[in-house]
This record gives sequence, C-alpha cells and structure tokens, in this order.
Amino acid sequence: MSQVKTMHAVRAHHADPTGLSYEQIPRPTPGPDEVLVAVHATAVTAGELSWSEQWPVIPAHDVSGVVAEVGARVTDLQVGDEVFGLVGFDLPGAAAEFVAVPAADLAAKPGSIDHAAAATVPLGGLTAWQALVEHAQLTKGQHVLVHGGAGGVGSYAVQLAARLGARVTATASAADAGFVRALDADAAIDYTTRFEDQVRDVDVVVDTVGGSTLARSWQVLRPGGVLVGIADAPAPSDADRHGVRGTYFVVAPNRAQLGELARLIDRGELRPMVGPAFPLAQTATAVVTQRDQHIRGKVVIQVRPNDGAGGG
Ligand SMILES: NC(=O)c1ccc[n+]([C@@H]2O[C@H](COP(=O)([O-])OP(=O)(O)OC[C@H]3O[C@@H](n4cnc5c(N)ncnc54)[C@H](OP(=O)(O)O)[C@@H]3O)[C@@H](O)[C@H]2O)c1
Repeated sequence: MSQVKTMHAVRAHHADPTGLSYEQIPRPTPGPDEVLVAVHATAVTAGELSWSEQWPVIPAHDVSGVVAEVGARVTDLQVGDEVFGLVGFDLPGAAAEFVAVPAADLAAKPGSIDHAAAATVPLGGLTAWQALVEHAQLTKGQHVLVHGGAGGVGSYAVQLAARLGARVTATASAADAGFVRALDADAAIDYTTRFEDQVRDVDVVVDTVGGSTLARSWQVLRPGGVLVGIADAPAPSDADRHGVRGTYFVVAPNRAQLGELARLIDRGELRPMVGPAFPLAQTATAVVTQRDQHIRGKVVIQVRPNDGAGGG
C-alpha cells in the first residue's frame, strides 16, 4: 500500500486570523491539466479571509515556486521550472508547502527577482493590469486617480498607469506621499484631506478602498469617465446619474498578463513591493500585521528559504 504523502499547510477555520492553524495534511495530487508547485513564497491579501464561504480553507493565492510534478496532459511546463502565478479563488491557496495549480495559470518567474519578490506580484499586478487595461481601457495621456496608491494593488496600479503613459494622481497617507511619488505618481493626495477638492476631470478612477472614498469619487470624473472598483462595487444608478461608467470585477489568473508583468520587472520598469516576511508557521502573525500595520506593498509568507531548491 502506498503511503499518503503529507505537507505542512496553514488552514483557516473561520474568518478571524487568530484561528489560522499550522497543520500536517495530505499533499495535493495535480489533475491532468495541473502542476504541483513546491511553494517558495506566497503573500497576504487584505481582507481575504472574509471572502470564504466554506471552511476550512488554505489562504493566500499568490505563488512563486518550483514545479515538482506535472499532470498527464501538461506539455508546456517541466519539473524544475521556476514559476509564479495567481491560484484561482475556487482552489486551495498557497499557504502550504505544495499547491496544485492549472498549468495555464502560471508563467515563468521573472529571472531578475527572488521568489519572495515574485510572490508579491500576481494578485496585485494582475488586478492593477486588468483594472487599467481591460476594464478602463486606459489610453496614453489620460489622467488616472488611484485610491490606496501605497497598497498591495495600488502600488502596482500607480506604476502600470505611469508605464502606460497616463498622468497619475494617488491618494495615500501623508507618510506614504514620497513612496507613491517614487512609484511615478505625478501627485499624491493625503487621504485624510478631501481629494474631491483637489482633483477633477479625471478619465479613470481605480478605487482599492471603497466606502465613502468610492461614493465621493463620481464627482471627480469627466463626463464619460470610468470608475473601476475592486473593494466595493459601484452602484449602476450612481454611474448613470453622473454620466460615467462604473464597474467592479474579481481578478482572474492570466498567463499572458503575468508574462507582460515579468517582462516589465526584468526590464526594471516595474518594482515589486516587498513588505515584511514571515515563515509559514507564522501566517497568523503575517495576516494580523497586514491588517493592523501600515504596510507598503505586500506581506510575504516565506515557505522555503529564498534560495532553496524546490521539489521534496
Ligand atoms: N476585486 C478584486 O479582484 C480584488 C483583488 C485584490 C484586492 N481586492 C480588495 O481590494 C482592497 C485593497 O487591497 P490591497 O491588497 O491593495 O490592500 P492594502 O495593501 O491594505 O492597501 C490599501 C491601501 O489603502 C490605503 N488607504 C486606507 N484608507 C484609505 C483612504 N481613505 N483613501 C486612500 N487610501 C487609503 C492604505 O493605507 P494605510 O496603510 O495608511 O492604511 C493602504 O496603503 C481590499 O479590500 C481587497 O480585499 C480586490
């Protein structure tokens, strides 16, 4: 009888991060179109535990690691490949020694950065890319307002909007004003002040904050402009009333877009935003740190040593 292979993983049994537990559970077996990734690093996303509808769940959907097994139908990845990607929200996450991921959702890890930095890219970078390119259809010369410009998504949205040739204004804390300017924001607005008195005729708002920030954003758009919300969904009636477009989406895995992000990183045109790192067994502390401290970029969960070998 073959012995069941096990792995260490962190599982949430409810939405309170103090309930995250470090457990030994069976190692997943990749399906025919999946690969098993030996996780080197993953990252924490704000509010993620509140999204789950069933328990227990393995959290953290960013992954950077090394292919350890390939499914029967996978032809484009091999054992030993260094990959990064977004693990779909319908699948167990990457706060584990191994995660099974559809091969089509992974891309080659950017060669110029380590796994910890690569793990900060997929969810934030893809969300920013999809907001700006797919949902806002941003064009060169447009003016973009990014709410939460120093955060896990906003720090990528500011950089990508600038790379796409936009003029960028970002809201952030006063302490983060210099940080968002260094990401190439043309202007930073302290979020404790009224941004709606300081910016107008904006083509695109990317709102990573929601609530009253979303509600106060309609008035800064030019007629026909677009508000892309990722924290809260804009109400269609508000959009109609202001003669603009409002849209909400949930980020999807996308290999081609990961490839674009990797190319920008390797050319030095996109900087991963690496916050503090914690070992897998301390994922609860990592999640609380992300929630309670003003972290720039993403909190990393280091599953294997940064230069360690995959497999195992
Ligand atoms: N729909 C999707 O596909 C999708 C994808 C990813 C994330 N999300 C959601 O998007 C939200 C943001 O995620 P994230 O990872 O970027 O979070 P994050 O890393 O916590 O970043 C949020 C940023 O917003 C700043 N902020 C707080 N209040 C603000 C205000 N009133 N005005 C402007 N900025 C403000 C924070 O600054 P301080 O540090 O000073 O607090 C922080 O820098 C979360 O709700 C997350 O669940 C949705």
